[in-house]
Amino acid sequence: MTIGFTLNREAVTVCTDPHTRLIDLLREQFSLVRAKSGCLTGDCGACSIIFNGNVAKSCLIPAFRVQDSTIITLEGFSQTEAYQDIIKGFAAAGVATCGYCDSGKILTMEAILAKDPRPRSRPDILAELRGIHCRCTEPESLVAAVQAIADRRQRRLYGRGA
Ligand code: FES
Ligand code: FES
Repeated sequence: MTIGFTLNREAVTVCTDPHTRLIDLLREQFSLVRAKSGCLTGDCGACSIIFNGNVAKSCLIPAFRVQDSTIITLEGFSQTEAYQDIIKGFAAAGVATCGYCDSGKILTMEAILAKDPRPRSRPDILAELRGIHCRCTEPESLVAAVQAIADRRQRRLYGRGA
């Protein structure tokens, strides 16, 4: 089938089997490789993208669901100031980044802050982070990173801390 959608702010079309996984479509047809094929069962978050405004696991999305959707991959998100907030917040909180977990970790941070620009509830933050696997970062460091990113964003947008 031929499907049309918006990918990283550009209208695209592609001809594919309707059951092709979106992760494979992105990597093989569009050479967008920052989302990784990890578990392919929805557990690790390595394949994360923003799908119609929400963070989603592209290994679980078949091509036929992509018609008329809007997708942002980490390649597209990395062009934004919001991405810079996250990268600098990670550095401030001592959180590492790597090719395997970046899509899940970075896009989940953005999803947390989109829901609440000043997240203060540790259990809520930890619950949101459950969908990603980073083998080398303590959950507490990620909670600290969320708060560092929120402060940085408040300063960038409004000239003050959270
Ligand atoms: S590869 Fe999609 S969640 Fe692990
Ligand atoms: S920094 Fe990528 S798995 Fe931990």
